[in-house]
Amino acid sequence: MADRGNRIAVFGAGYVGLVTGACFAELGHRVTVRDVIPARIEALRRGEVPIFEPGLEDLLERNRERLSFTLDVAEAIDGAEFVYVAVGTPPTYSGDADLSAVWTVIDELPAVDHRVVVAMKSTVPVGTGEKVRHRLDERGLAHVGYVSNPEFTAEGTAVRDFMEPDRIVVGAFDEADGDAVEGLHRGIEAPVVRSDVASAEMIKLAANAALMTRISFINEIANVCEATGADVVKVAEGIGHDRRIGKSFLRAGVGFGGSCFPKDSLALKQLAASSGYHFQVLNAVIEVNELQKRRVIGKLKQRLGALRGKRIALLGLAFKPNTDDTREAPAFVLAGRLLAEGADVVAWDPVAHADGLHGVEQVGTVDEATRGADAVVLVTEWPELADVDWAAVAAQMRTPLFVDGRNMLDPETMRAAGFTYDGIGRAAAVER
Ligand code: UDX
Repeated sequence: MADRGNRIAVFGAGYVGLVTGACFAELGHRVTVRDVIPARIEALRRGEVPIFEPGLEDLLERNRERLSFTLDVAEAIDGAEFVYVAVGTPPTYSGDADLSAVWTVIDELPAVDHRVVVAMKSTVPVGTGEKVRHRLDERGLAHVGYVSNPEFTAEGTAVRDFMEPDRIVVGAFDEADGDAVEGLHRGIEAPVVRSDVASAEMIKLAANAALMTRISFINEIANVCEATGADVVKVAEGIGHDRRIGKSFLRAGVGFGGSCFPKDSLALKQLAASSGYHFQVLNAVIEVNELQKRRVIGKLKQRLGALRGKRIALLGLAFKPNTDDTREAPAFVLAGRLLAEGADVVAWDPVAHADGLHGVEQVGTVDEATRGADAVVLVTEWPELADVDWAAVAAQMRTPLFVDGRNMLDPETMRAAGFTYDGIGRAAAVER
């Protein structure tokens, strides 16, 4: 495969850039990953992987001879036929996507005389491709192509999501550039959606918005279940069998977080607003998610009264299991609210850190976290929590109250273990 490979420069050694680079190397291409952080590049050259992503380390190791890492733009571009942009696009204060890192890459692109295709992996507002096209033309780089090739990789399963995607989206101004980017994915079995650039940009934003809408929808159904005595876990199962609805993304809980959903929902909201459109459903999705993160506080107060001086154990800090990522994690909002209520907050997570959560005590075991606690809140469904001796935990707590923010554990088993157990949207199972 190696001799068929193309030369690809990937700008950005974050989780998207590294996964993209490693997977393209696995497909037989020669990849140079460029970043601006010296420590990160030095670590990668030593064979260290700066992020926690299952399978990534193996992939980087296996494809060592096809991968290189550099701080130098000229070195990255030298001989490259494709330039992948995989830099961060964080929200600004207004909620718009901050594209400064994207523009830096475009403006730093040397005045190459050979044909190069710039491929956008970063999530950007609709219309960005058009603007980049103009900028390149202004710089006399009309021969440099531009393609939107968004990623749909979830953290924790990013390598699999790249190698076995549900679809590959390629939006191009020029058919030949689209063909070339599609060709890079040879070896991957998946439907390819070819479109114009704006539609490809919108596909990414709309896919995320649809997934977030499902989560906020099921969370609202959960809240109505609590008020009416139904059980959302059963309800999700019952509606999920309908093929028009489907089973996935119907897990009620303490809301979504992460590096994509919160940022991309704001970016789409702003994009719509700036184009004069009030995106009602999306606004509601965002608001429901904000309220959902705080509902646990109400549950605790209902059982414990005022939370001042109460010891609350948070199990899980990461925004979801199998990642150390705490960006926009519901646990952080919850911890902040609990501290504001005057509670003592102790947190456990197998890999994530409570960095920046001043006032939260982080401990190494579930046992330590729960000793003498007035309540436990399960925030992240880490698989190891399925194997905890919960009866022993209940026995060592001051009040054995358990709020299962992910409906991970079986209510009856937890009650048999000695807990007052409350899930999300499971009123039927809560004794009143
Ligand atoms: C997501 C998208 O899945 C991915 O396609 C996109 O490229 C980036 O954003 P990621 O943020 O890594 O990926 O995680 P994901 O597994 O989708 O979960 C996002 C959040 O939704 C988590 O906080 C998770 O706990 C929450 N979630 C997910 C629910 O609350 N209920 C569900 O049913 C599913």
